[in-house]
Amino acid sequence: MNDRPADVPAGCPAHATPPAPELFTWEFATDPYPAYAWLREHSPVHRTTLPSGVEAWLVTRYADAREALADNRLSKNPAHHAESAHAKGKTGIPGERKAELMTHLLNIDPPDHTRLRRLVSKAFTPRRIAEFAPRVQELTDRLIDGFIEKGEADLIHEFAFPLPIYAICDLLGVPREDQDDFREWAGMMIRHGGGPRGGVARSVKKMRGYLLELIHRKRENPGDDLISGLIRASDHGEHLTENEAAAMAFIILFAGFETTVNLIGNSVHTLLGHPEQRAQLQRSLAAGETELLATGVEELLRHDGPVELATWRYATEALTIGGERIGAGDPVLVVLAAADRDPERFEGPDTLDLARRDNQHLGYGHGIHYCLGAPLARLEGQAALATLLKRLPNLRLAGESSDLRWRGGLIMRGLRTLPVEFTPGPVRDEGDILSTL
Ligand code: HEM
Repeated sequence: MNDRPADVPAGCPAHATPPAPELFTWEFATDPYPAYAWLREHSPVHRTTLPSGVEAWLVTRYADAREALADNRLSKNPAHHAESAHAKGKTGIPGERKAELMTHLLNIDPPDHTRLRRLVSKAFTPRRIAEFAPRVQELTDRLIDGFIEKGEADLIHEFAFPLPIYAICDLLGVPREDQDDFREWAGMMIRHGGGPRGGVARSVKKMRGYLLELIHRKRENPGDDLISGLIRASDHGEHLTENEAAAMAFIILFAGFETTVNLIGNSVHTLLGHPEQRAQLQRSLAAGETELLATGVEELLRHDGPVELATWRYATEALTIGGERIGAGDPVLVVLAAADRDPERFEGPDTLDLARRDNQHLGYGHGIHYCLGAPLARLEGQAALATLLKRLPNLRLAGESSDLRWRGGLIMRGLRTLPVEFTPGPVRDEGDILSTL
């Protein structure tokens, strides 16, 4: 990508800057980090044309990224970008037109964002997540039970994909008998147009219809689940409307699903490529320690996290980022994956160091839109990795890493499939991992 043209002599100072890398190609999707290193160094706030034809700014340095994520002049409301295809129809949720599900946390600014976030935070408490740990462990074991005898699996489809769907369904209070419908709808949504024509829009519509009906039922007959909590939550006498509660349930599912699939997929992929680090983690888990698991999941997020770019932001007025003039209405995309490898912020940023302590990465974002589900993501990520490594200690890639294909989406970074093979581990010690989390 950064090769010197054939007619340029080595060391020629006039050509010391390698040519700008091509973005959004298949090579880029496989390994975007060399291109991000170039951008950080030579064009840290970079205007580009996205594959959709929309022009946007990419922010790649850590300091600029952190500042931009907290800058209230950068709005999340697509109405600020009147000209874009994005604003004309798309809401960031595939298949969802300017409709009821549009009013969700990632598309609104204060004061509406403040009100909705405060209400949801009352239902989405750390205590609720902590209480959920046994269920996550049970799900993790059940999914591994489903393929362990085969000695091989596609870890994306058989493990990483169903785990967060069932977990979030349980959290929301979707009855078990309906959860496979959610699995199907969600599967359609992350295919990003790869499914049958209109399939994504149909799935979103079905999910919305289902959620509204469920909210209705929970209002009549509340339980100890998140949807009942959302209905109950009030702030100075204010409640979520049914549409707001449906949009909230949907964004929790939408934001918490593909991200976690990719956290698990990318993390296993990275560990398989770093046998020494992986062996160290396995030793520490075998000794019943949890510290390396906790710092390790954060490091895996920093090193090759699931959210490559933060979601869309739009300049509400002309402003400057990293010395670059951004026009009013311009879209700004903060490249979390580039910021988290910035050598100005992280020592040896390309090196995986599961024990890294100084690791204030941006993988969960920053500022008022900081990931609401980070405690759940940590719980799922830690349970998934610990259980896989303990139950399948000799897990290995089936085939070459270079044959793996990455999804081509703009925001998320994740593998299409992750074929692995293994001989089953010694024991299934139920409760053991859980007690260490
Ligand atoms: C490893 C998994 C996850 C990662 C890496 C991740 C990352 C992020 C990031 C980067 C943002 C901020 C986006 C921006 O500012 O543009 C965000 C927001 C959000 N995340 Fe996550 N997320 C993960 C899992 C989850 C889970 C499991 C849930 C819920 C079940 C969740 C719910 C949300 C919600 C609701 C927001 C919007 C918050 C707001 O706008 O106030 N996320 N997440």
